[in-house]
Amino acid sequence: MALWGRRAFSALRVWGPGGGRKCISNSVSASGSFGSRGSSEKKFSLQDVAELIRTRACQRVVVMVGAGISTPSGIPDFRSPGSGLYSNLLQYNLPYPEAIFELEFFFHNPKPFFTLAKQLYPGNYRPNIIHYFFRLLDDKGLLLRLYTQNIDGLERVSGIPVSKLVEAHGTFASATCTVCRRSFPEKDLWADVMMDKVPCCPVCTGIVKPDIVFFGEPLPERFLLHVLDFPMADLLLILGTSLENQGLNSGPCACQVEPFASLSEAVRGSVPRLLINRDLVGPFAWHPRSRDVVQLGDVVHNVERLVELLGWTEELQDLVQRETGKLDGRDI
Ligand code: APR
Ligand code: ZN
Repeated sequence: MALWGRRAFSALRVWGPGGGRKCISNSVSASGSFGSRGSSEKKFSLQDVAELIRTRACQRVVVMVGAGISTPSGIPDFRSPGSGLYSNLLQYNLPYPEAIFELEFFFHNPKPFFTLAKQLYPGNYRPNIIHYFFRLLDDKGLLLRLYTQNIDGLERVSGIPVSKLVEAHGTFASATCTVCRRSFPEKDLWADVMMDKVPCCPVCTGIVKPDIVFFGEPLPERFLLHVLDFPMADLLLILGTSLENQGLNSGPCACQVEPFASLSEAVRGSVPRLLINRDLVGPFAWHPRSRDVVQLGDVVHNVERLVELLGWTEELQDLVQRETGKLDGRDI
């Protein structure tokens, strides 16, 4: 079992004065790329990334995603000022936002987490074009693995095989009794969660907690696949994530979620990395590489641009239509 947890690691202050989250200044234009400055090497662009995928020059694509890819499905992300989840937890009387994912607070008061769980529980939301773009990458045999921090399960709902997924912060698909450690499928909890009841173990009456990784808990064993995947990857796509995590200590400091955030640097130096995100984040800001490409702005707009460059627009629309039809047929 991976020993890491979502603990805060060495604090990296990116907070502006007064504690407000400071967007790292976009040191590149909206569709920027970093070439080694001043060198003759051609700057890498979104067109180059599309060409590598389209010609199958890259066939082992690793994807890293965060809450930003689910905002188009109607699920708030964590840190966007005002709209992010962490700005809307005041009703729960938390000592600080992350407490909702802390075991100590959970055992003191599980209600806030289960109220949030009711909102995020599978079935309330549907995948969007971004999830289906990854599904198309897999259908074409190009997806090596998708690492997600999201707990909404929309990657599974879009039909990406579970074997291609690493749900780094866990999933609602299963749950575990916090006392006797018995495992339960999601459906066993659904009724209680929807009726605002705290699910309890039928055997020992302990609280049954969905298998969402809380701060301080080990990441799922499957996370260890990164040891093989990232060195093998020949293209890394990073979408909709701040690659950070507010520290567990009281002060407003942004700490990297190790090891998820650090995975962005685990691919070989020659491997192109594409960031599609509203803000410039992580190593794309602090020490970009010569084959980095940054597409700042709306994630749907930029994925649609990439899909168009790939010539997959029609194919993707057909896939979305087909899958949406299936979901309409099922009460998902
Ligand atoms: N288009 C482009 N970017 C977007 C959009 C959008 N429509 N919506 C959100 N974003 C960007 C935000 O600007 C932000 O940079 O997505 C990123 C989301 O960052 P966070 O809210 O920090 O979410 P995430 O990176 O997934 O958080 C990491 O921290 O506390 C933990 O458990 C939590 O798994 C989460 C982890
Ligand atoms: Zn039990």
